[in-house]
Amino acid sequence: MKNLTITVKTLFGLEQVLKQEIEELGYKNVKELNRAVQLEGDWKTVYDLNLNLRCAISVLVELDSFRITEEKDIYKRAKRIDWTSLFTMDNTFAVKGAVNSTLFNHSQFPFLLVKDAIADVFREKEGERPDVDLRDPDVMIDLYVREKQVTLSLNTSGVPLFQRGYRTGTGEAPLNEVVAAGLLKLSGWDRKSTLIDPFCGSGTLVIEAALMAANIPANIKREYYAFQGLKTFDEKAWKEIYAKANKNAVDLGFTIYGSDLDGEVIVKARRNAGVLPIVANVDFSVANFKDVKRPTPKGMLITNPPYGERMGENIDRMYEELGDWFKQELKGYECWVISSSEDGFKNLGLRPDRRLKLYNGSLPCSFRKYSIYDGSKRAKFNNEEYKPKPRKGKPAPAPKKRKEETDNKEQVVTNNLMDKIRKIRGEGASKYGKREDD
Ligand SMILES: C[S@@+](CC[C@H](N)C(=O)[O-])C[C@H]1O[C@@H](n2cnc3c(N)ncnc32)[C@H](O)[C@@H]1O
Repeated sequence: MKNLTITVKTLFGLEQVLKQEIEELGYKNVKELNRAVQLEGDWKTVYDLNLNLRCAISVLVELDSFRITEEKDIYKRAKRIDWTSLFTMDNTFAVKGAVNSTLFNHSQFPFLLVKDAIADVFREKEGERPDVDLRDPDVMIDLYVREKQVTLSLNTSGVPLFQRGYRTGTGEAPLNEVVAAGLLKLSGWDRKSTLIDPFCGSGTLVIEAALMAANIPANIKREYYAFQGLKTFDEKAWKEIYAKANKNAVDLGFTIYGSDLDGEVIVKARRNAGVLPIVANVDFSVANFKDVKRPTPKGMLITNPPYGERMGENIDRMYEELGDWFKQELKGYECWVISSSEDGFKNLGLRPDRRLKLYNGSLPCSFRKYSIYDGSKRAKFNNEEYKPKPRKGKPAPAPKKRKEETDNKEQVVTNNLMDKIRKIRGEGASKYGKREDD
């Protein structure tokens, strides 16, 4: 029975590829939202999505969605939910999410209202209340407030789904695993051709690519999801879904290559890949990108070079050399580069076919595609300095300034007020005395 409204959260710019992933799993009527997608389903769907999605941050199950006219409406509606049917006294919980509403002076206040409603429901039904644990809760309630519209959900994933369980070591600026999977999807890589990452660091792109090509869930090594701690947990259904997932090594018939100048980070990359059934399909080596030879005549490069921001290097020359290396060594390749450095992109000296706006953590980045054509004519078009000749009687067209293909919005949550809560709950001081988490 499809009785659940499921919202799958993702990162800015990955909504469309997440929708595609869900459709590839066989689900229909997937709606694209801002940094999320939504569909109807049941608990099996929830387990399936948690295990199999590569571009998801968390899977939420809606508990209630309503409009409010004043602050205390949140407490009233949250108090109508029978929280005791979802988890027990022994579970710790936390209310997190995002508030973007002029109804609240303190953006933390709505979270406290829900927390108190949950505690009061437990007290009234069971005489005791579960503890709050903001750091590592068993049960995470998600509250989303946008002006007067409020949505309360259960976060069925718990810690974000980019915590895959395979990455034990990283270099200085590792890619988030969800971003890495998103880059692979956005690039349109066919999962059956040579892929190279010459700045592979701890191997995130290489490992995510190998898992994707072998059709092994990215979360195959993850040990726990929050849905396993809920009263609704159907262990049999979960075991069935887990059993269906491909966990075995397969011979892809091609190799995914990762290399990096730093030998220590390559040791970590090998160790990270080593816990997964993909080792036969990946090849890590220590190399300066300039010395890397094209392994096959055709293929794709996807890479995350230093941006000069976090690691503090002078990168101008490096991007220049990278562009030269593309032109000389990678004829016949599609090269995708993610970077936050506009100067870096300019120094590549190549004209991108596509530009996508994304974030790497909080850094606004661009993900650009360069097709390196084999042959002198097309190579000319690759060159940033190439200017078309004016046609007779017409001025040369001005080079087009291309906008990134997506946009962004940010929201922030802060602060805390307790007296107001007591008023809304109709108490002078708390009738239960001071709360543990006050
Ligand atoms: C932003 S990090 C890549 C992180 C990687 N995507 C991950 O998830 O761990 C950039 C990497 O480029 C490497 N690097 C810097 N200069 C290099 C060069 N000339 N050739 C190859 N690798 C280089 C650094 O050692 C670093 O690991």
